[in-house]
Amino acid sequence: MKTLKTCLSGIALSVACATASAGEVEVLHYWTSGGEAAAVNVLKQEMEDAGHTWTDFAVAGGGGESAMTVLKSRAISGNPPSAAQIKGLDIQEWGELGFLTSLDDVATAGNWDSLLPEVVSDVMKYDGHYVAVPVNVHRVNWLWANPEAFKKAGVEIPTTWEQMIEVGPKLKAAGIIPLAHGGQAWQDATTFEAIALAEGADFYRKAFVEHDDATLKGETMVKVLTTFKKMRDLIDADSSGRDWNVATSMVINGQAAMQIMGDWAKGEFTAAGKTPGTDYVCVAAPGTADMFTFNIDSLAMFTQSDDSRVQAQKDLAKMVMDPKFQETFNLNKGSIPARQGMDRTPFDSCAHDSMDAFTVSAEKGTLVPSMAHGMATSSRVQGAIYDVVTNYFNASDMSAEDAADKLARAVKATL
Ligand code: BGC
Repeated sequence: MKTLKTCLSGIALSVACATASAGEVEVLHYWTSGGEAAAVNVLKQEMEDAGHTWTDFAVAGGGGESAMTVLKSRAISGNPPSAAQIKGLDIQEWGELGFLTSLDDVATAGNWDSLLPEVVSDVMKYDGHYVAVPVNVHRVNWLWANPEAFKKAGVEIPTTWEQMIEVGPKLKAAGIIPLAHGGQAWQDATTFEAIALAEGADFYRKAFVEHDDATLKGETMVKVLTTFKKMRDLIDADSSGRDWNVATSMVINGQAAMQIMGDWAKGEFTAAGKTPGTDYVCVAAPGTADMFTFNIDSLAMFTQSDDSRVQAQKDLAKMVMDPKFQETFNLNKGSIPARQGMDRTPFDSCAHDSMDAFTVSAEKGTLVPSMAHGMATSSRVQGAIYDVVTNYFNASDMSAEDAADKLARAVKATL
């Protein structure tokens, strides 16, 4: 156990000076793209400046499926990291298994209950105790567009799914791929849930939160699935297995006109030095203005036995809630701070739109948890939905009616 030099040498770091000893934090995450790495480096740097040792445990793979597999094997072998990027209902599952430690002392001292919107703090608690700390709020229902591509094709950026389908041939005729997409289950689900959201927040909730059987196999779901399948005509032949950030780079360089993706995509535009409003445009996914599918990234804390590690873990939690961290991290990540009452000035127009949409949607009852990103339902139900959605998207001979029926049956079997 080493004593913090930063405190003795007087380098002004409040967290460091409040800490008696330096320790190691091992942090498992899947933030490996350009924008994501820039964001996580902010935290790493702050921890190192405070004298702690950051052991980076990055597992590549958008959406985090691979990271969760690795985490499970580490936990089962009795050697979990100090902190892991776990979200939404997965936090409850890890809490139930008894792996997570309480952060209540840090949360009470830092007044987290009054600093976080309830929709966020609820997710961070297991059995009434804080076990995770939120780094941000991502809005998932976005459309990212390259305005030059639209100009070249002489068409407008779509605001409805019908328009989206209509502009396809004109963009293609101008030599542009209409929709940049990566053929991975979570990316398919991200597009699918955006189309579902356009049918209304009530429909969305009934399907993905309440798992209402009639909604899952009903007419509206058939309509959603039919529109979803039409997206295939807008994407190129090489999309299979493509990473989301590679798809974003196709929009950045004008090879493709649009991408449906959460605002971690903005982190890629930012890392490429692009400016919203001129180099690229962010608009709500068609038909979902004033609606907000939320996806909150958080670090859940695993029980540690070594005192210095416990202290480092607490410092990490404290640091994440620090306003300066919330600002810098989110400027890089493309998301908005989880902490309320932050200065909006440093943020760009897309972040301002997101902040406004968060408030308006909360008032209107159109703030909904993202199914594709683990906020709406258990990982088991999510997995069942992923399978049906992806199989249908890739099948040449499955009707939308069949897919809706399969969806309802798969969800029922998993509940
Ligand atoms: C996470 C983001 C991440 C994205 C791509 C989402 O599920 O919440 O933090 O950037 O996946 O990996």
